[in-house]
Amino acid sequence: MTPGSSHEAADGHAPSAARPGGPPCVAEELPDGLVVADAEGRVVRFNAQAARVTGVPRDRAVGARLEDALPLEDLKGNRWWPLTDPYGGLATRTGQPERNLLLPGGREVLVAARYVRDVPLGPVRRVVVTLRGTEARRRTERSNAELIATVAHELRSPLTSVQGFTHTLLTKWERFTDDQKRLILETVDADAKRVTRLIAELLDISRIDAGRLEVRRQPVDIAAAVGRHVHGLTARGLPPDRFFVRVGRPLPDLWADPDKIDQILGNLLENAVRHGAGTVTIEVAPTGMPDGEKGTAVTVSDEGPGIPEESMGRVFTRFWRGSTRGGTGLGLYIVKGLVEAHGGSITVGRAPSGGARFRFTLPVGAPAYVTQGI
Ligand SMILES: Nc1ncnc2c1ncn2[C@@H]1O[C@H](COP(=O)(O)OP(=O)(O)O)[C@@H](O)[C@H]1O
Ligand SMILES: [Mg+2]
Repeated sequence: MTPGSSHEAADGHAPSAARPGGPPCVAEELPDGLVVADAEGRVVRFNAQAARVTGVPRDRAVGARLEDALPLEDLKGNRWWPLTDPYGGLATRTGQPERNLLLPGGREVLVAARYVRDVPLGPVRRVVVTLRGTEARRRTERSNAELIATVAHELRSPLTSVQGFTHTLLTKWERFTDDQKRLILETVDADAKRVTRLIAELLDISRIDAGRLEVRRQPVDIAAAVGRHVHGLTARGLPPDRFFVRVGRPLPDLWADPDKIDQILGNLLENAVRHGAGTVTIEVAPTGMPDGEKGTAVTVSDEGPGIPEESMGRVFTRFWRGSTRGGTGLGLYIVKGLVEAHGGSITVGRAPSGGARFRFTLPVGAPAYVTQGI
C-alpha cells in the first residue's frame, strides 16, 4: 500500500477516472487541473488535466508530498510551498489567489489554492489546488499587444505628418507663397481630422468590446434616414444619379437609436462611394427575423470591384483594409457592433453587377410598454 492510498480511503475518493459501478468522477471532467492534498500534505487526487498542465504523471504525483509532486516556484525563484506554508502559518488563512508560477523546466502554470478546515481556525484538513495552463491568457495578451501596436502605428503616421508640415511652415514661413501655405495647412487639417476620427472610432470599439454600448430606442423612419444620407452626399458634390433608393412598403415599425442608425448608414454609404463604383443601390424592405418576428432589411450594393471571396470573412474585423484609400479599417467592425447591439445581423456578399453588397436586418425592437399596448 502506498502512503497515499490510506488517505484516499479516508478521503472517500479514488483517484481513478471512474469508480467501479459508479458514475465517472466529475473531477476528471473538470477543464482545469485539480490537485488535492490531505491533512498530512500528501497528494490524494491528481486529475488528468493536472497531469497534462504540469507534465507530471499521475502515478508519480499521487501519494507524494505536495511540494514534491508540484515543485512550484514563484517568478523570483522562491519555492512556493515553503513560502506559503498552507499547513502552518495563520489559522485565518483560507487559501491563495490565482498566481502565475513556474515548474522545473520553466513551464508556467496559473495556480490557486484553498485551505479546507473542518472548523474555523482549526487545522487544515485538505489543500485543494487548481492548475490552469497559461496559453489562453497568453493569447489574449498577445492580441492586446497587437492591438496596441496597430493603434500606435495608426496614430503615428498622421501625427508625424502634422509635425513635419508644421515644422516646415514654422522654419521656412517666408519662403512659401500663400497658396503653398494653404495647401500645407489643408494637409495638416486632414491629418488632424483623421486622428480625431480614429480616436472616436477607438472609443466606439472599446464600448462595443466592453458590452457598454447603450441603445436608446425610439421610433425611426429608416427610409427617411436613407434619403437624408443620399441628400447629404449629393450636397457634397456627388452626382445624384450615383444613388438609387428603393423602399418596399409597408415597412414594419422600427425602434432604434437614431444616431447609431446614422452611423451605420453613413459608414456603408461612404464605403460604397469610396471603395465601390457606379450606381449605389439602397433597398429598404420588410423582412422576417430568425425568431419569426418582423424586421427591416437594408441592402447597400454598388458596381465596384467588390470584395474578394477569400476576404469576405475578414471585412468585419478590426483594422482590416482591402485597399489603401485612407480609411482606418474600423468602420465595418463598428457597423457590425452597432447592428448587433440592436439585435440585428449583417452580412456581406456580391451584387449582381459584381460589386459589394452589404445587407443588415433590424428587428422592430419596440419596448415592452408599446407591444403590450399600454
Ligand atoms: N463597397 C465596398 N466595395 C469594395 N470594398 C469594400 C467596400 N466596403 C468595404 N470594402 C473593403 O473593406 C475594407 C474595410 O472597410 P471599413 O471597415 O469601412 O474600413 P475603411 O473604410 O476605413 O477602409 C475597406 O478597406 C475595403 O477594402
Ligand atoms: Mg469605411
